Amino acid sequence: EKFPIYTEGLLKVGPKGYVFKHQYTNLAEKYYNFKLRSDDVFIMTFPKCGTTWMQEIAWTMRNQVNVNTDLELNVRAPFLEFDCLESMELEPLESWLEDFNSRNPGKDYKTEGLYLELATSCPSPRTIKTHLPFSLLNPSLLDTTKVIYVARNPRDTCVSFYHHHRLVKVNKYIGNFDEFVDFWCQDLLTYSPYLSHLAEGWSMRDHPKVLFLFYEDMQEDIMRELRKLNDFLGTSLREEELKVVAEHVKFANMKSRSTCNPTAAGIHVGRFEKNEGEFVRKGITGDWVNYFTPHIEEKFSAWLKSSKEAKNIPMKYRN
Ligand code: A3P
Repeated sequence: EKFPIYTEGLLKVGPKGYVFKHQYTNLAEKYYNFKLRSDDVFIMTFPKCGTTWMQEIAWTMRNQVNVNTDLELNVRAPFLEFDCLESMELEPLESWLEDFNSRNPGKDYKTEGLYLELATSCPSPRTIKTHLPFSLLNPSLLDTTKVIYVARNPRDTCVSFYHHHRLVKVNKYIGNFDEFVDFWCQDLLTYSPYLSHLAEGWSMRDHPKVLFLFYEDMQEDIMRELRKLNDFLGTSLREEELKVVAEHVKFANMKSRSTCNPTAAGIHVGRFEKNEGEFVRKGITGDWVNYFTPHIEEKFSAWLKSSKEAKNIPMKYRN
């Protein structure tokens, strides 16, 4: 069978029908009841919207502009629900874990609940990555915690998600882009529906504890966005320090660092297919034009226009 992961064991969760693998059932309650601290900051995104970029930015800003750490980004700024994506069904996990432990001296993580444990035991101030939308997290989240929501235009997000599905072994995706767009348009991919996720984030944009940012704006003027973050996070960094952060999180610099690009230097450990490029991939806006044939554009824009949520997302992403 060609796409096993999409025909077996998929869940649609909550009124919006967010898509998860079956493992989510065992962990949903733990995520919902995750014990928050008042200095937590959540980075919330639909996958491929600039999560890693924002993790590196927010963590660096909140940790005295420490640009010399050897710790993996996903240890410093843990991914809350990663366990429900990969750990239980990934065959080469053992070797990946061995590698992971050897690159993180003093750690000896086990497979089950690894990431939830990382998030729980992370020292304060915690910067936590999640792709869960507001409706799957505790309604009291914003009483305690600040949230940075990063959005990216749907076409580039789709192209990036396609490469992600080819690269990450657990997805077992061997189809082409045209076929992938069918999964996207039917909201069959993990964390879909994209439009509901985005609409939820956008509806919270005026909440004082939410900072809503656009991937494209970060590319246009990173210093402007870092200043917004500096105010929002209360980090009080000076302009020179923000410049250090900006340099540190430049695409080329992140791509070459194995702490935030797990495929840097062409090292494709267990989780990744060898011939499918890198995790920190291309990092540009508008790459979609290289993938969208007239036929793909037709079905993609039909999907966008037909969704009930289309009117609830930022205007610039509606067409
Ligand atoms: P592309 O696949 O279009 O290159 P996420 O971290 O949410 O998975 O998002 C991944 C996308 O962000 C990828 O997009 C990746 O290349 C891009 N990205 C990662 N680091 C970046 C950076 N420092 N600057 C710009 N884009 C970055």
